[in-house]
Amino acid sequence: MNLEEFKKKSEEEIALAQKEVDDVKDENSLNLFKGKFLGKNSNLTSFFASMKTVPNEEKKDFGILLTNLKTKLNAFFQKKEEELKQIALNHRLEKERVDITLPGYQKELGSKHPFYAIVDDVTDFFLGLGYDVAEGPDVESDENNFELMNIPKDHPARDMQDSFSIDETTILRSHTSCVQARVMAVAKGQGPIKVICPGKVYRRDNDATHSHQFGQIEGLVISEDATFANLLETLTLLLRHLFGDKREVRFRPSFFPFTEPSVEADISCFECNGKGCSLCKHTGWIEILGSGMVNPNVLRLNGFDDKKYKGFAFGIGIDRVAMLKYGIDDIKRFYANDVNFIDQFRKE
Ligand code: PHE
Repeated sequence: MNLEEFKKKSEEEIALAQKEVDDVKDENSLNLFKGKFLGKNSNLTSFFASMKTVPNEEKKDFGILLTNLKTKLNAFFQKKEEELKQIALNHRLEKERVDITLPGYQKELGSKHPFYAIVDDVTDFFLGLGYDVAEGPDVESDENNFELMNIPKDHPARDMQDSFSIDETTILRSHTSCVQARVMAVAKGQGPIKVICPGKVYRRDNDATHSHQFGQIEGLVISEDATFANLLETLTLLLRHLFGDKREVRFRPSFFPFTEPSVEADISCFECNGKGCSLCKHTGWIEILGSGMVNPNVLRLNGFDDKKYKGFAFGIGIDRVAMLKYGIDDIKRFYANDVNFIDQFRKE
C-alpha cells in the first residue's frame, strides 16, 4: 500500500467511524464501536501491522497519518463515552430528584412512662430537700434484704414479704429497704445520711393492685437530731406535693421490724374528699406508705452508735402512687409494653 492509497483508506475509515458513532446510543453499541475501530481486529491494527512493509523513506509520513487516524478514532470514542456518561448521570439526577415541597416524615416522640413520671417527681422533691439518691441491685443478698434490716432467719416477719430465692443466700429484693444497709455500710458509722433509693422490688403477689414486680422509693435519714416530728413533716410535705395541698394526712401505728415506732400514712381521699367512695373503700382515707423511726437494732447491726444517732425511714410504692394519681385500674398495665397506654400520659 502506497501513501496515497493509505491516505484514502484512512479518510474512508474516519468517515465511516464518524457516521457510525452517531448511531451509538448505549454502552453496548459503544463497545462494539470500540472493537470495530480500535480493537485487535480493526483496520487500525492492521494498518499498524503493515508499517513494516512500508519503504523507509515513506515511514515518517505514513506514521503521521497513522497517528492522526488513531487520534481521531480515539476522539470519536472518548467523546461518545463522555456523552453517554452525562446522559446516564442526568437520568439518575432526574430520577433521584428530591421534591423539597413534599411533607417530611413525622418522627413520633416517646412519652414518659407514668412509673418514671412518679420516680422523677419524687426524686426532684427530695433533691430540693437536700437528699442524695442511692441505688442498689435487684438481685440482693438475704443479709441486706432481711438480716441487716432486723429480720433474722426464721423470723415470722419474713412472711410479710414472700420473696423469690435465687439460692440459699441470694434473692430478688422484696423491698428497697436493703439499700439502707448498703448506704450505711458505705457511711461506716458516720452520719448524717439523707438519701432516697428508688428501684424495682419483687414479691410473690398477683392481683389487680399487686404484681410480682413493682417499684418503691425508700427514704433514710440518720443524724444526731432526727425526730419523729421531722418524719411526720417530711411525709406530709411529700404527700401534699404528690396529691395536692388540700390533702389531710393521717398516721396510724403499724409494725415493721426495721422501724420502731412504725407508722403508716393515709391521705384523705381525693376522689370524694373524705366522704367515702369506692376508691377509698368508703373509709374516706387512702393508705399510702409505711415509715417509722429507724429501729436501734438496725443502727447497731449496720455499724452505727444507737446512743449517738437516730433516724427515720419510709418506703412508698411507685406503682400505687401512679395508679391513684392517674386513675389506673390494673398494675399489670405498667409492665405490658403497650404504647397506647403510655401515650395517655403524654404532656403536650
Ligand atoms: N420496706 C417496707 C415495705 O416494703 C416499707 C418501709 C420502708 C417501712 C421503710 C418503713 C420504713 O413494706
